[in-house]
Amino acid sequence: MKKVLFVCLGNICRSPAAEGIFRKFVEEEGLSDKIKIDSAGTNGLHDGEDADPRMKKAAIERGYQLTSKSRKIMKRDLVQFDYILAMDSSNKENILSLGDGEFDDKVELMLNYSKKHKGEEVPDPYYGGAQGFNHVIDLLEDSCKNLLNEVKASF
Ligand code: 4NP
Repeated sequence: MKKVLFVCLGNICRSPAAEGIFRKFVEEEGLSDKIKIDSAGTNGLHDGEDADPRMKKAAIERGYQLTSKSRKIMKRDLVQFDYILAMDSSNKENILSLGDGEFDDKVELMLNYSKKHKGEEVPDPYYGGAQGFNHVIDLLEDSCKNLLNEVKASF
């Protein structure tokens, strides 16, 4: 079993989308029993909430169901998960600050799995228009595909 955690700030836009997209790819490959998937946020401000309705709508239109409830990332997530994907550098710093360095190698920027956008950040769509949510899905589809290949190769 490999465990993959997607992390953004509020856990209502970017990381729920990453979770939903990755889950669909994993299901399509028949790997749901072998890969555990979850998402979390670093600020906990939206604890217990569904994904943002704008993110849900954009995702549904592309064939992805977002079912996550927002939760704050905890120190024990660093122990439990094998892959921890941060949507931006600030998320990454906040994740790393939870630990004492022991688990730093598990934490990566999501777009390091994108060929075209390597090293870039998934922009926060919260304060923008519909186009921002679609752009997030474009970036995540590309990187989720490559991430899944890497996870498969690790079995
Ligand atoms: P997310 O977007 O990090 O992609 O879930 C945000 C959602 C809410 C807030 C910030 C970012 N907020 O501060 O309320």
